[in-house]
Amino acid sequence: MTAISPSRQVLTDCVRMATAAPSLHNSQPWLFRIGGPAVEVHADPSRRLPVLDPDGREQLISVGAAIFTLRLAIRGAGYRCRSATFPDREEPDLVARVFVAGPAAATPAVEALVAAVPHRHTNRFPFAHTPVPDDVLDHLADAARREGATLTVAPPASRESILRLAREADQWLRVRPGYRAELARWSGTGVRHDGVPMWAVGPWDALEAVPIRDFAESVPLPRPTEKFEPYPTLLVLSTDGDDRADWVLAGQALQRVLLTATWQNLSTTPISQPVEVPELRRQLTDPAGGRIAQMVLRVGHGKAVGVTPRRGLADVMLRRAEPAPAGPAVDAAPQPGQRAESRARVDRRYPGGRVQ
Ligand SMILES: Cc1cc2nc3c(=O)[nH]c(=O)nc-3n(C[C@H](O)[C@H](O)[C@H](O)COP(=O)(O)O)c2cc1C
Repeated sequence: MTAISPSRQVLTDCVRMATAAPSLHNSQPWLFRIGGPAVEVHADPSRRLPVLDPDGREQLISVGAAIFTLRLAIRGAGYRCRSATFPDREEPDLVARVFVAGPAAATPAVEALVAAVPHRHTNRFPFAHTPVPDDVLDHLADAARREGATLTVAPPASRESILRLAREADQWLRVRPGYRAELARWSGTGVRHDGVPMWAVGPWDALEAVPIRDFAESVPLPRPTEKFEPYPTLLVLSTDGDDRADWVLAGQALQRVLLTATWQNLSTTPISQPVEVPELRRQLTDPAGGRIAQMVLRVGHGKAVGVTPRRGLADVMLRRAEPAPAGPAVDAAPQPGQRAESRARVDRRYPGGRVQ
């Protein structure tokens, strides 16, 4: 039987699961603190990428992905939870406080997404030439919507312009001062617990259509060339605002979409170059329609890829365990600046199916 409140060990296991989240260049820019029936999630300023991500937008998307995974893990452990985004003005790096409420059995949807966590990996290899079925794409759009974001499938014409923007962005970034040195710092052949290892980089697209980021730039070995799918399925994840809370929301939606895709046996590649160059990001953005582009995703049927490294718990846990302030009542309305409880729950009942 589930205890009234989770033990520290249960919450520690949830934090461990949260560290499986994706992050920009596998920077894992998060820190956690367990205090009473709550887990704090902090951004780690020392793990920001100042050249690529001067505003910290992608850092907060990465932290948001970890927050979604934490919420999911808590739900999977049999507890309800609710999270408050940026709960303390005095502490800007405290991104969220996730309060654990009473016991609640995990739904099949929660179980499916929990099972997907260890199987979700960024896949930078060619995908099969088969289209992703519409009903599967609907599931992905629904996953984003449930976190308050919008996911749009690019029709053929905009797919070509997104790919062009991504290639253009790649060229812009390569000549940005410090970009190559920063990329080299977060990739390579040495054994480490963060960054993108060489085996995860993938080949060049022989047709030069799909712009996979060149993490192998600093390595003096030639990168192999393979034919990628000629018509990649591209999705644009957008939010209706563009402040720090929106970036955290985008990260939570991103991880929910990625896990839903994994549950559907799809492979995924975040392609963030076009949203890293402001002039090009504007072209993907429709502020009048309430859509600010936060991320481009490629989805498809790919071969299995490996697991990238993660830092151990000792490196991501803030040691001082302070008693957390009492959380809001389970059904209380969210405070201004806080995200609503409905966004903090994972309760979608998917119609069966298993994550491999
Ligand atoms: C905000 C963000 C931006 C990312 N941008 C890219 C990208 O442009 N190209 C890429 O290949 N991977 C990108 N990724 C994927 C990360 O490199 C990947 O999550 C990280 O290396 C950990 O590997 P994993 O996803 O297999 O666990 C991005 C991930 C996040 C969260």
